[in-house]
Amino acid sequence: MSIRNLDDLLAEGVSGRRVLVRADLNVPLDKQTGDIGDHKSASAPRGGTPDRVRIADDGRIRAVLPTLGALVSAGAKVVVCSHLGRPKGAPDPQFSLRPVAGRLGELLGAPVHFASDTVGDSARSTVEALADGQVAVLENLRFNAGETSKDDAERDAFADQLAAFGEAYVDDAFGAVHRKHASVYDVPARLPHVAGRLVLREVEVLSKLTSDPERPYVVVLGGSKVSDKLAVIEALLPKVDRLLIGGGMCFTFLKAQGHEVGSSLLEEEMVETCGNLLERSGGKIMLPVDVVAADAFAPDAAHDTVPVGGIPSHRVGLDIGPETVAGFAAALSQAKTIFWNGPMGVFEMAAFANGTRGVAEAITKADAFTVVGGGDSAAAVRALGLDESAFSHISTGGGASLEYLEGQTLPGIAALEN
Ligand code: 3PG
Ligand code: MG
Repeated sequence: MSIRNLDDLLAEGVSGRRVLVRADLNVPLDKQTGDIGDHKSASAPRGGTPDRVRIADDGRIRAVLPTLGALVSAGAKVVVCSHLGRPKGAPDPQFSLRPVAGRLGELLGAPVHFASDTVGDSARSTVEALADGQVAVLENLRFNAGETSKDDAERDAFADQLAAFGEAYVDDAFGAVHRKHASVYDVPARLPHVAGRLVLREVEVLSKLTSDPERPYVVVLGGSKVSDKLAVIEALLPKVDRLLIGGGMCFTFLKAQGHEVGSSLLEEEMVETCGNLLERSGGKIMLPVDVVAADAFAPDAAHDTVPVGGIPSHRVGLDIGPETVAGFAAALSQAKTIFWNGPMGVFEMAAFANGTRGVAEAITKADAFTVVGGGDSAAAVRALGLDESAFSHISTGGGASLEYLEGQTLPGIAALEN
């Protein structure tokens, strides 16, 4: 790609220079319960103090170590910034990056300084005090309204303050490149800029999927909402050989096929759209033939496997069934290229994790180039104890990888190209 990368910056020499790194350290948190939830809202420990927060999955922190390690070894003064969760433009302790900075220090094997604000006095003095080869993490970018503002002037003002901390900018926040935010889009316009190792690798892998995938090319999509995935389904249908659909969103498709789905997740207003997609798909779309239907959305709910034609009206489908897993596995075993995004069921509850586990295992067994897309699918792989190295690539970006596959222009990548 026509983007300068970390090696170009290292070749210029960074010793003693301040390098601002945008990372995506938006990791799922929990309150020491050991489960993984929706890090956007539900599992952020409400009212919890930062020191009681447990990082449920540190995959995104590990993913930026190659870039940070290279900068540290080269003697740069490394200033790391990131968002965490979705605070509303003001400080909110439950979304503090302090525990993340602590974990980063453990993984780097060196102390990491932490600034208790993003562009204020603490940030200024922390950056000022950095010695060569040292790392500082700034507090959550989204504690500042300017980071995500739709108003260019507001973003500009914040970007000016942030850019003052670096003499060069490295974007290694692949998970956020689809956001037109100050740290992603406006800061690179103010500093010499390069793609970090993670962004470079992600783009290389995903461009392989869009340009010339070896066939058969099979995509597995899960997750709860069809409306979130509609654009990517539309974009992928002409390109893939098979599209396997599970997760909560399968019920809107099953309804379009004429099945009753009981109390399962249903987007009524999307049923007609799903029907059209099925008609136009030329048989490429594969849907579940059986599901695990439960009395309630609860880990210990009574449940049975039922055919999709026989979901009782009071029951809620929480996973795909074994016959479906076998059918999906057969399709996957033929594939030469596989992309997977979104869990097949409520994998956080052991009783409803078999679909996700079965599909994930089938992907690892295929003799194919296999890509897992998405913060949540990647977290699922690790939460289920699956071997990460059995996949060709695990993307750190959920929305970002989907928008890339849709063929959209990603603001963070476009900013690096300029
Ligand atoms: C993600 O988790 O998808 C990225 O970190 C982006 O977060 P966002 O969806 O809150 O912008
Ligand atoms: Mg996302």
